[in-house]
Amino acid sequence: MRGLGSTMDEKAGLPPYSASGLPAPASGTAHIRGRRAAFRRSRVLKLFGAACLTLLVAGQWTQIWRDDAKAPLLSLDKLNADLQTCQKLRHKPQDPIGLGRDKNARWIPGSQPTLIKNATIWIGEPVEGTSEADARAGKGWEWIQGDVLLEHGLIKRVENHISSQSLPKDTKVFDAAGRQLTTGIIDMHSHAGVDSLPFLRGYADTNEVSDDITPWARSIDAINPFDPQIEVIKSGGVTTSLILPGSGNSMGGEAFTIKHAVGPKNGRKEISAQDLLADPDRNWRFMKMACGENPKRVHGGVDKRPFSRMGESFNFRHAFEQARALIQRQDDWCDKADAIGVENMEEYLPQEIFWESLAAALRGQVHINTHCYTITDLEAMVDHTNEFKFPIRAFHHAHQTYLATEILKRTYGGRPPASALFADNMYYKTEAYIASEHAGKYLYDANLTTVYVSDNPVLNAQHVLFEAAKGYHYGLPYHAALSAVTSLPAELLGFGNRLGKVKPGFDADIVVWDSDPLSVGAAPVQVWIDGTAQFENPVELQKPTTSPIVPDEELANIIEEPTEIQDVVFHGIIKVLLADAQAFESNGEPLDVFVSQGKIACIGPCSSEYEAAAKAAKVHVQLSNGYLTNSFTGVGGTIGLNDIDGEDVTDNGPNPVAFSRAVDGLRLDSKKLNVAAKYGVTKAISAPKYLSGKSHHGVSVGFLTAAKTVAEKGAVFDSDVAVHYTLDLSARNVGSYSELFGLLRRKLLAAASQDKPAEDPYSEVAYLQKVIAGENVLALTIDNADGIATALRIKAEVEETTSSKIKLAILGGSESHLVAAELAAAKVGVILLPLQAHPNSWDQRRSLPGAPLSNGTTIDYLLDAGVTVAIGLPEDWYVRDLGLEAGTAYHNGNGRLSEKTALDLVSVNVHKILGGKLPEAQAKGHFIVSEGSPLEIGSRIKAVGAGRDKVAVFQ
Ligand SMILES: *[C@@H]1O[C@H](CO)[C@@H](O)[C@H](O)[C@H]1NC(C)=O
Ligand SMILES: *[C@@H]1O[C@H](CO)[C@@H](O)[C@H](O)[C@H]1NC(C)=O
Ligand SMILES: *[C@@H]1O[C@H](CO)[C@@H](O)[C@H](O)[C@H]1NC(C)=O
Repeated sequence: MRGLGSTMDEKAGLPPYSASGLPAPASGTAHIRGRRAAFRRSRVLKLFGAACLTLLVAGQWTQIWRDDAKAPLLSLDKLNADLQTCQKLRHKPQDPIGLGRDKNARWIPGSQPTLIKNATIWIGEPVEGTSEADARAGKGWEWIQGDVLLEHGLIKRVENHISSQSLPKDTKVFDAAGRQLTTGIIDMHSHAGVDSLPFLRGYADTNEVSDDITPWARSIDAINPFDPQIEVIKSGGVTTSLILPGSGNSMGGEAFTIKHAVGPKNGRKEISAQDLLADPDRNWRFMKMACGENPKRVHGGVDKRPFSRMGESFNFRHAFEQARALIQRQDDWCDKADAIGVENMEEYLPQEIFWESLAAALRGQVHINTHCYTITDLEAMVDHTNEFKFPIRAFHHAHQTYLATEILKRTYGGRPPASALFADNMYYKTEAYIASEHAGKYLYDANLTTVYVSDNPVLNAQHVLFEAAKGYHYGLPYHAALSAVTSLPAELLGFGNRLGKVKPGFDADIVVWDSDPLSVGAAPVQVWIDGTAQFENPVELQKPTTSPIVPDEELANIIEEPTEIQDVVFHGIIKVLLADAQAFESNGEPLDVFVSQGKIACIGPCSSEYEAAAKAAKVHVQLSNGYLTNSFTGVGGTIGLNDIDGEDVTDNGPNPVAFSRAVDGLRLDSKKLNVAAKYGVTKAISAPKYLSGKSHHGVSVGFLTAAKTVAEKGAVFDSDVAVHYTLDLSARNVGSYSELFGLLRRKLLAAASQDKPAEDPYSEVAYLQKVIAGENVLALTIDNADGIATALRIKAEVEETTSSKIKLAILGGSESHLVAAELAAAKVGVILLPLQAHPNSWDQRRSLPGAPLSNGTTIDYLLDAGVTVAIGLPEDWYVRDLGLEAGTAYHNGNGRLSEKTALDLVSVNVHKILGGKLPEAQAKGHFIVSEGSPLEIGSRIKAVGAGRDKVAVFQ
């Protein structure tokens, strides 16, 4: 393979300039030697004279002699090497070519050509001749029917029909059967390989936090090619990732772009980081920087900079000053060497490994990616770009860029940085508290670029395409959303001629999808990297072949805040999916839904009802493809007990020892709760957290997300829902597993052995007595299959000893598919946190990634076994996504779920498993009216009944 040598040298020798294809130095060594020998004599004479003169004048013979004596000691070879380095220092990289290669440098000789027949192809750019204005408006981006030929690691032909007779005999043929084909997904913010999963200290190499300024650190030196996540990520169609150092440092170090093909199983010859490099020639280099909360939190302290953002800015400027000074010294040396001949130089080229990569950045050889959330940080960073004259490719986590478009446009270099975003993961720290799920659309309107990224393992990069899908859902045009994980990151990484499009000359990274890539649950049928199919026996889900999504421009009409209306009539309802008895489809004729005083008063032809109520001013809302469904219940998160995950003062606080009731800590009217209500999550069940997120300890409370204070009538619909313990990794801070499980058994037995009610009816013992009596569910947060099995055994042991019947529920459940039959036999329900497990921790390492790697995910096994399943909030930002989560279970369930039973996963099943039922009288005030099924990416919530006397209408 080409390029191995050059990059190997780079690892061994310094500085790591890798600009390839540079002309060899013009003059041969021998020639220079000859000249130098001749020169030496005359120079010695001249210098001798000068020295004598100086001696006479100043009488400092010894010192001068010593200075002069140095020159002859310099190595000519080294000076020549330095002169070559000058060429590299002056080199201005260009994006590497695509067309014009006869093979991809990553191609493995001997791998066969592949013809993909009958695909519906997304080229990645509008048809030729489309005006810029039309392209922006989404015109010319049509899917085309055709065949794609992959050869020598390149896309060779993309045509309506490629006859297989014209091809080499050994050509493999893949019949796409009309399915949709795109280029491989590109994730330009990942820590795969440096932050291997499941987390083990031994593999934690994301941040070199020995110092705040580590431009010298290099992610490639830490990439673990055995990170199982590299394969899992690819199973989501991701073929290329930018592996960045973490954001713990102001300057985190160099990043590297990899392809997700490792070792012989993936068609590669070796298992190495070298072999992962997307561009073995290293045309461009990449660097990570970070502003804001992280560097000051990690490094700051009294007497330790940066304590504040002021210190951060100084650290940046100071570092750039050092790099700039190095550049000056190097340029002076190179210019002088050119002028007087390198053999006449009296010192070597100044080189400092500490500042080498930052100097390269200032020379324009490095694409900088900066983690920067807030206007404050963005503005400071943009100032630095102008002071030190360097551009920035993208701001990452750039939650506030949609509010700072003019600042972005002031960035040095004339090209505003792109925003690398999550679609709706926010509120996890102060920097992420001002953010919008519509940011992509707002940035688009400002002519700025959005790309969606995973920050794996923050999000599971397997599903980074779903971020783009949600971008579309929240208003970004379809073509811009798909570009945001294909052609746009390709271009930002300098691979605009090689990656991100399905065109001849591009690398043969291809995905054939089982459904539209921006539809809910889309999964690859097969993935090719550099022309090699990556999955030997890919599992293909049973999905009807569907046409590509017809982009719905209505999604771009964003209504941020609803209007509160007392009486309203919705027309055009075609499906009603409420309680079991109330699930039906209209028979052709769309129905009306009349909502009066915030409650559903009539479903059907309702004219007599709403006309009878004519006194009240009524609003009529006409819907197309209208749905009336249950509202959702958010469970397992911290909503109601926390507003900013990372800010203690907004939090109820941890309960590692104390056993408390969530109802005593509820704080309503938070941003998270307002968002929940807006997205149809009108009820929530939250438990006090144990230590960190997704851990529970105490008694959960059922409450209404739209209530303004806990004093409001009906705000708390069940003050004591379930009794929670956490027996997972977060509990390990308190004791061993053996100790914790044993302790739970002891507590249950102790509670059962008391023949009187506990003196304090709100004590732990009192609640455990209710558990023994079967009045409250015992809810255990456990991901690990053996942990769950142990909990089932303890339940049986206690039941046998005490002749009780304990109602048990499992929260988490990442590995619960392994004990599905046992859960079903014990009638234990599971609340998945999240639906699609992300094996972050050792406890979750047997999680199933789903198709094409596994036949189904946890939920499918649980449903097949007859376990009652619900989907909860592993993190609070999921409140916007519950409908789409249920949609994923629906679409990827091979027909196991109907629309109704899928929606039950985020509504009625929560209550079946945990209890905490809304009183019958209140139920009619809780519903969602939407256009399109809430399970679909193209759906729009039009109204939410959140148990108040008015309904929130989006119009
Ligand atoms: C392409 O696939 C579709 C869907 O399976 C099928 O109806 C059509 O006949 C196929 N066309 C060709 C040329 O094979
Ligand atoms: C965006 O670009 C279009 C065309 O290039 C232009 O008409 C429009 O005014 C620009 N909008 C903004 C906010 O700059
Ligand atoms: C996946 O599992 C289902 C049963 O749940 C089975 O019917 C199907 O054949 C399996 N598919 C594959 C590809 O193994």
